[in-house]
Amino acid sequence: MKTNATLAGGVLLLLLGVVGCPKAPTPAPPPAPMVPTGVALGEQVFKTGIGASGTHVPFTKGGDKFRAEPGGCIGCHGEDGRGKQISDKERIPAITYPALREPIGGQPPMFSTDEAVHKAVTQGVEEDGEEMSPVMPRWQLTDEEFAAVVTYLKKLSEGQPPIEATHEHEHMKYEHSEEHKTK
Ligand code: HEC
Repeated sequence: MKTNATLAGGVLLLLLGVVGCPKAPTPAPPPAPMVPTGVALGEQVFKTGIGASGTHVPFTKGGDKFRAEPGGCIGCHGEDGRGKQISDKERIPAITYPALREPIGGQPPMFSTDEAVHKAVTQGVEEDGEEMSPVMPRWQLTDEEFAAVVTYLKKLSEGQPPIEATHEHEHMKYEHSEEHKTK
């Protein structure tokens, strides 16, 4: 009995399927590939690390954890871009545009030009020539991607309280290797 009922149900469903669906649905045309530009591209790189090509932006260094599971800037610098304390002594710096380019706490800006920021992000070299922590990935961004990230870092700070305390953009302390010390 049970088998028959199941069978009947199956047939009914099949019929319903056929009757309820007189025309085969015309397949929707494949969506045009969404290639974000400008601030949307910057947001994408910031949040996922995916560049304009649709794949993760190539990078060197970045620490073991990041290499194992690459993501965007957000993973280290935080959703608001204001960095975070990761241990008693270590802090990942804030990278909102004002944090990078405006004077903070009576100190001169961390970077005097966008080109200097570019060098830090792509080569891991501070404006004073100091090599940055190997934890910071060296991002092989295209000019378009870098400009987009900068635009997003500007947008990110809108509505945020100003970064006043120098500790918010203090560098992560790490042991410089000997070769870097002899500069
Ligand atoms: C795996 C963690 C990690 C990720 C991901 C990461 N950063 Fe960093 N970043 C760091 C660390 C750590 C420093 C501090 C390096 C130092 O001072 O030696 C840093 C420093 C910086 C600085 C210099 C800030 C300053 O005050 O000197 C900039 C600019 C920066 N990151 C931008 C970015 C951007 C843009 C992205 C995404 C495209 C990104 N970072 C992704 C870890 C990361």
